[in-house]
Amino acid sequence: MKEAICLIGFMGSGKTTIGQEVAKELGYRWIDLDTYIQQQEKITIPDIFARYGETYFRKLEVKYLERVLDEEDVVISTGGGIIVSPENVKLLNAQQTFYLMWEFDTLFNRIEGDEARPLSTSYEEVYKRYKVRQGLYENASRAHIQCEGKSIVDIVTEVLEKVNVTYQRRKIND
Ligand code: S3P
Repeated sequence: MKEAICLIGFMGSGKTTIGQEVAKELGYRWIDLDTYIQQQEKITIPDIFARYGETYFRKLEVKYLERVLDEEDVVISTGGGIIVSPENVKLLNAQQTFYLMWEFDTLFNRIEGDEARPLSTSYEEVYKRYKVRQGLYENASRAHIQCEGKSIVDIVTEVLEKVNVTYQRRKIND
């Protein structure tokens, strides 16, 4: 069975940067799901939220995650809320999904005031979202990468090591 490499985690966890690097190292195609949705729907994410609301955006996320998982040899950087839809958790569970974990304050400092992120609101509201989602990220992923204090290169290396381990395990079990 083909498996994509999916990166999940809260807003600001580096899914885009790290996904791009991992794909480069493996020679895989890289897809940033938020960018893909914007290209397909010809509208920005803040505009989707403003015009149609979050529930509508979540439906698009399910539709397009399913679609990009049809690709071979692909690394997918997801949006931070991908795990709030149970359909997506099911899809992610069948992939090599890595959860990029950071402390809340590190993430909030990165996303505070970012207008491209409609859900980057007050510290209290974003913290509540972070707490609710922690368990969801854990359940949707095969491996957790503790990122705090590490460089991008360190994190990419760790993902690649874990990808290899999974592949080796699969080969032994085949
Ligand atoms: C969201 C995160 C965003 C984007 C949308 C909703 C979320 O992606 O998908 O604004 O619910 O956490 P990033 O994680 O890349 O910011």
